[in-house]
Amino acid sequence: MRHSKKSTENNDSNNYKIIAVDDEIGIIDSLSIFLKHSGYTLVGCTNPYEAIEKVKTEQFDLMLLDYIMSPIHGDTVVEEIRKFNKELYIILLTGHKDLVPPLETIKKLSIQAYCEKEDKFDQLLLLIESAFKSIDQVKTIKDMNEELRRSNEKLEKAYLETIETLRYTVEAKDSYTRGHSDRVSAYSVLIGNELNLYDKDLRVLKVGGLFHDIGKIGISETILTKPSKLTDEEYYEIKKHPAIGKQIISNASIFRDIIPIVYSHHERYDGTGYPERFKRR
Ligand SMILES: [Fe+2]
Repeated sequence: MRHSKKSTENNDSNNYKIIAVDDEIGIIDSLSIFLKHSGYTLVGCTNPYEAIEKVKTEQFDLMLLDYIMSPIHGDTVVEEIRKFNKELYIILLTGHKDLVPPLETIKKLSIQAYCEKEDKFDQLLLLIESAFKSIDQVKTIKDMNEELRRSNEKLEKAYLETIETLRYTVEAKDSYTRGHSDRVSAYSVLIGNELNLYDKDLRVLKVGGLFHDIGKIGISETILTKPSKLTDEEYYEIKKHPAIGKQIISNASIFRDIIPIVYSHHERYDGTGYPERFKRR
């Protein structure tokens, strides 16, 4: 948008674009003179259909809209505009306070305010000023959300990069692990998908699969790569890798969710796997 926080603070009202719609040219002229005097410029429109088209092709911050008009009333104009623009701030102008649409309609069409037409337009000016404050607040919130989204994207990228870097560390130690961990990760996600798990849980499964054997970093290479059958002592050593893995990743908060996977990936439903049985030895 053209207006900035700075410009608002400086009360540079020319940064806002106002469209006024009224089938009486006299009202448009009065509004134009009054608002110009207050530092605002407006685009006037006496044909409601033309006004809808203008909003489609030009960007406006605020619409001052007459309610009782021909050939269509103000609420119909808003109804049409809301089909393609939910953000335009609209102040409905009424000839008499009894001639306002029902409150339900005002809420449904997101008409932000209504104001009785009067000679001096003082009340209208207050409404316009508060409209611009509100527009700026919405813009600030949107900017903050966008910033937050970008920060999250950066964090996510850093997270994935950390995972990749760590993966290389594990793979350097045990080349067998790579293909195995990739497969465990991929199959886990496939099963998770079949179980209709949430995306966040699928991500835990993916990363958990990739790192489930990270504890092998702490096991001797001679044992890990031994081509023949392991002795009881060597097997005892190997069975330490879930607990070692848990210890390694416990220090990094980004891996908090995968700790149970790493620690219990050799466990069985009946508790006869390890590390539980291992602990009982
Ligand atoms: Fe394992």
